[in-house]
Amino acid sequence: MTLPPLDAIPASVAAVTDYEPLARERMSAAAWAYFAGGAGDEWTRRENVAAFDRLPLRPRALRDLSTATTRTRLLGLDLAAPILLAPVAFQRMAHGDGEYATVHAAGALDTVAVVSTQASVDLADLAGLATRPLWFQLYIQPDRAFTAALVRRAEEAGYRALVVTVDAPATGMRWREQRAGFALPAGIEAVNLRGMRGLPPAPRDALLFGTPLAAAAPTWEAIGWLRGLTRLPILLKGIADAGDARRAIDAGADGIIVSNHGGRSLDGAAAAIDLLPPIADTVAGAVPLLMDGGVRRGTDVLRALALGAGAVLVGRPYIFALAAAGAVGVAHVLRLLRAELELAMALTGCPDIAAIDRSILAGRA
Ligand code: GLV
Repeated sequence: MTLPPLDAIPASVAAVTDYEPLARERMSAAAWAYFAGGAGDEWTRRENVAAFDRLPLRPRALRDLSTATTRTRLLGLDLAAPILLAPVAFQRMAHGDGEYATVHAAGALDTVAVVSTQASVDLADLAGLATRPLWFQLYIQPDRAFTAALVRRAEEAGYRALVVTVDAPATGMRWREQRAGFALPAGIEAVNLRGMRGLPPAPRDALLFGTPLAAAAPTWEAIGWLRGLTRLPILLKGIADAGDARRAIDAGADGIIVSNHGGRSLDGAAAAIDLLPPIADTVAGAVPLLMDGGVRRGTDVLRALALGAGAVLVGRPYIFALAAAGAVGVAHVLRLLRAELELAMALTGCPDIAAIDRSILAGRA
């Protein structure tokens, strides 16, 4: 039996992780497994969180906070704080209001929500309701004509950037989900992919290699193709290697998101925060650099910024809040993280985002 969503936030919720047990009681076992789970033994999923604890901070005293702010600019947008909502699929599986609630909360807290290709509601309907600009997450699908039409729909609906996931080609992800026996509940589907041409069946005995799924997995060629197709800024999400970051910039990417897909793609991949520093050194401010994976506290946001990120994205923390309490929960998560970031900035003597650098990490400067 699952409990109904809450209509008020219990006083016991004092940190974003407090939403986790509340969400679990309000989700089906399948939905919980889908959102909470990671690949393989889930080492990377756990490591994303654990690695932040290995970065102790250096408090600094008596700094002037009279004009302190968390505000930041990102690809032409002005944000209340460098904390965005990561693309997460099928949000109506977490709460009846699904992506509508998420977009509503992002607007209320003055930040960007990234809408998934696999959203469970129509991308144009969502944009029509949004009070703040949205970004669209794109899986470059084997059906290129369909992908091009999807990009057009996102452009026409007013999305301001494309976030192209490169660490879990849709093909590979579907393969994983099929193997895990995951099935969407009745009434929930990737509505924005309706009408897409499917792939021919795999040869008998083929696993991943040798299948049409593997043959259709996008390569760097696909990024060049997309660059020629749209004038929207393109961010590549799932860059984990400095060489790939350089290649992304050469291919015309306008932004890079360091990510291991929340530990849902390659289990054994290093924590996202540990992948960040060499990539930050390579990118060296050429394009905006973001990261996601394991951010659970404002102090984690601070650490990511100290190591070179311009902003972070959160995924599971807001999905659990969505499941527990809808839009109010999601807005609360954004507020909690910003409050914690403000306090962490104050206590490390950083009056604004530009002031955050490696010197606030003990042992790093
Ligand atoms: C899709 O991107 C997933 O992580 O399930």
